[in-house]
Amino acid sequence: MKSEILIIGGGIIGLSIARELDQRGLSGIMVVEQGYCGEQSSWAAAGMLGAQAETDEPGDMLSFCVESRSMYPELAGSLLDDTGIDIELDQKGTLYLAFDDDDAARISQRVRWQRNAGLEALTLSGPETRRTEPFVSPEVIGGALFPNDWQVDNRKLLSALRRYADLRGITVVEQTTVNSLNISNGVVTGAGTSTGEISADRTIIATGAWTSLIKIGAFPVPIAVKPIRGQMIAFRTAKRLFERVVYSTNGYMVPRADGRVLIGATSEDVGFNKDISAIATAGLIETASKIAPALGSLPVIEEWAGLRPAGPDRMPILGEFSGVRGLYVATGHYRNGILLAPRTAELIADLMIDGGRSPYLDAFSPDRFRIS
Ligand code: GLY
Repeated sequence: MKSEILIIGGGIIGLSIARELDQRGLSGIMVVEQGYCGEQSSWAAAGMLGAQAETDEPGDMLSFCVESRSMYPELAGSLLDDTGIDIELDQKGTLYLAFDDDDAARISQRVRWQRNAGLEALTLSGPETRRTEPFVSPEVIGGALFPNDWQVDNRKLLSALRRYADLRGITVVEQTTVNSLNISNGVVTGAGTSTGEISADRTIIATGAWTSLIKIGAFPVPIAVKPIRGQMIAFRTAKRLFERVVYSTNGYMVPRADGRVLIGATSEDVGFNKDISAIATAGLIETASKIAPALGSLPVIEEWAGLRPAGPDRMPILGEFSGVRGLYVATGHYRNGILLAPRTAELIADLMIDGGRSPYLDAFSPDRFRIS
């Protein structure tokens, strides 16, 4: 098979890059996915756009998250126009709960540095927190509100991106595993796959947790990305009890428009294993009960697990490897693949089309892990 641009990986990152390149007028785009598009980590995610709830300090990661989050209203509108799929961008914000003085101190500190960084964040008293979300636990002593940390339905987002690819004639090849990239005189020229050779002028690795399994020629790709399992559960409430995403130090709760309430998530270094365990489910039910006691007595309607792609410093890995031409990488998004997809796609497209050198390409360069 022949392509001009070969994107390896049909998850949120690969499909977002395919869309961005198509929108910029590039053709001959092919996405190769080892299973079915969007059915791994992107499907398992909770869809939180938690730039402020999930980032622990100011810096490149915070600004990258905030910039990507701000792209979602336009992305949601454009996907609805192009595909007819509503990705359910919900802009009601995120509430962070404090159950004790340590939580309260940590949350106030987060609000302080974020306000100093020019972001909207409010500290709330216990009664203010409960007025904001009446079904949270009476044990809550305070909280913080991040009005611009939103959520989307990640499964609908993936369906929309997949449909976009079909409508635009982007070639999508599923159930095909890339074993190794073909390299000649320092230039990547395509890939050898389980169903044959694919030639490409430019190749993008967007393989998330599976990145380190790919070889360049005979050598493993020089990036250590490992899977970190996250198990989740969902309840259903007869009517919507919560307006916002709710975080706590033990886990989070994501209320969906269809009445489902998602609870996440474990963080387990157990390799490529997506089993769900009774212990984890029990722990997640406990987390739910702690956040909102009303949830604890409901039946669990769904349990699932996904694999977060974790690089050595848990930051994204974006750009080119020095000394290798025709190859780009966009992986290692760890807990924030859904959040970071639009800005990642823009950054990779800028680099591929105009050679755009964003400072993020230095901060998140794959070369940062090289020993010499
Ligand atoms: N971003 C939430 C998680 O990875 O569990």
